[in-house]
Amino acid sequence: MKNSVILSRQETDKQFEYMERVREVVGGGKVFIQTFGCQQNVSDSERLLGMAEKMGFKKTTVPEEADLILVNTCAVREHAELKALSITGGYKHCKEKKPSLIIGICGCMVSQEHRLEDIKKRYPYIDFLLGTTLMHRFPEILYGVIADKERRFWIDNDISVISEGLPVSREPGAPEAMVSIMYGCDNFCTYCIVPYVRGRERSREPEAVIEEVRSLISSGVKEITLLGQNVNSYRPVGRDGYGFAGLLGDICSLEGEAVIHFMTSHPKDATYELIDVMAANPPESGRVGISRRFHLPLQSGSDRILKLMNRRYTAAHYLSLVDYMRKRIPGIAITTDIIVGFPGETEEDFSATLDMLSRVGYDNIYSFIYSKRVGTPAAEMKDQIPEDVKKERFSRLIQLQSRISKDKNQIYVGKRVRALVEGRSKTDKDKFTARTETNRLVHFDGEDGLTGKYVTLYIEGAESHMLYGRLSEADEGDILI
Ligand code: 5AD
Ligand code: SF4
Repeated sequence: MKNSVILSRQETDKQFEYMERVREVVGGGKVFIQTFGCQQNVSDSERLLGMAEKMGFKKTTVPEEADLILVNTCAVREHAELKALSITGGYKHCKEKKPSLIIGICGCMVSQEHRLEDIKKRYPYIDFLLGTTLMHRFPEILYGVIADKERRFWIDNDISVISEGLPVSREPGAPEAMVSIMYGCDNFCTYCIVPYVRGRERSREPEAVIEEVRSLISSGVKEITLLGQNVNSYRPVGRDGYGFAGLLGDICSLEGEAVIHFMTSHPKDATYELIDVMAANPPESGRVGISRRFHLPLQSGSDRILKLMNRRYTAAHYLSLVDYMRKRIPGIAITTDIIVGFPGETEEDFSATLDMLSRVGYDNIYSFIYSKRVGTPAAEMKDQIPEDVKKERFSRLIQLQSRISKDKNQIYVGKRVRALVEGRSKTDKDKFTARTETNRLVHFDGEDGLTGKYVTLYIEGAESHMLYGRLSEADEGDILI
């Protein structure tokens, strides 16, 4: 925290100058941005696009058409890194066809020294690498590459900047938007690379966050996700006692109508006060409220493994939070992240995780096979679990959750739900999908005019990952959240 600074007006002005200079020398062109990883990365890409548009680039979804390709990478698991590297490799042919093309890689993967060195040597057609904490200097690095015709590689994992005042480009007319409220992570869970590549925790000033949310609501955005690697440890400098619960309360007193989501929370920072603020502010028509969803990563159900992971809570504490949430907010959807095969995980530890799945009755889980990350303490731990054991446990975990999710979804059959229409289904173009307040997807027969609107749907069928329904105008029974 002590090193975190809000980007100075001078620095912002400097970047705007670089944007202008790039605009002058490039004079237009197209930008293609490929994003990997979490919502934070999606949000960072909106900022990169905002700056690119200010520099005169227009967005394209076809890499072969682009004059500038940006790959925003993730480093949380090896799989994400390998995918980003292989896709980047594929852009070599674009450069061969169009030598003036500029390719830059940003984000968490290139913020690691060993990856930076590797890409520098093995990918000579990559023009620049830009670390996560330096993303605000994108105009400057791009200008340098163009003006000096030289490759640039910038990372600095010791600085912690909050970039206010730079352009953000969001999907025009989209009913959903994301707002970053804090950056970085100080938790140092022993398996995780994030604290090394995203710097120290730093929170934006509440006034800046509230103003951004207010302006999104007044422009018609209906659902807003507040983002942070550890969102509930939001703590702006010099505002003693003001934390995430306070911020949510202030956002809920804004004029207008919207639903607020937030992610990702850490169980050690999930307070009863936060749950009380959620309980007091349900989403209702005509006002700003908080969604009935809580994503609370458990990671493991074994206290022994939680300790080795440096998570700083016990399974019992976690369960007490769940109990309180269910008591204060009936019907709340609880989801989690689970890591399978952390070093030293025994069959007994794994059973404790399965047991937690049954006891909590999650609406959904995001499960991951443990992946060794260079430089993290867990990568050095003895008793790394063999791949086949990890895979076998992973499949048992998925099977159990599939049954739990299906049972929970069955409750909706014969009931009605309110849901926000997202558009045509990605898997079946004749159907539409809508998302319910508890984050369930519903397939139904709709029409294009409904996209971005709330509808009431009567549920006729349910599987583990999907509800099936139809539009329901008449009073056909209870509406569930
Ligand atoms: N291996 C596997 N999963 C990981 N996660 C973070 N680091 C690792 C790793 N090294 C998972 C955690 C986290 C989610 C975003 O990714 O479950 O909550
Ligand atoms: Fe990684 Fe833990 Fe921070 Fe989440 S809280 S980003 S898992 S170190």
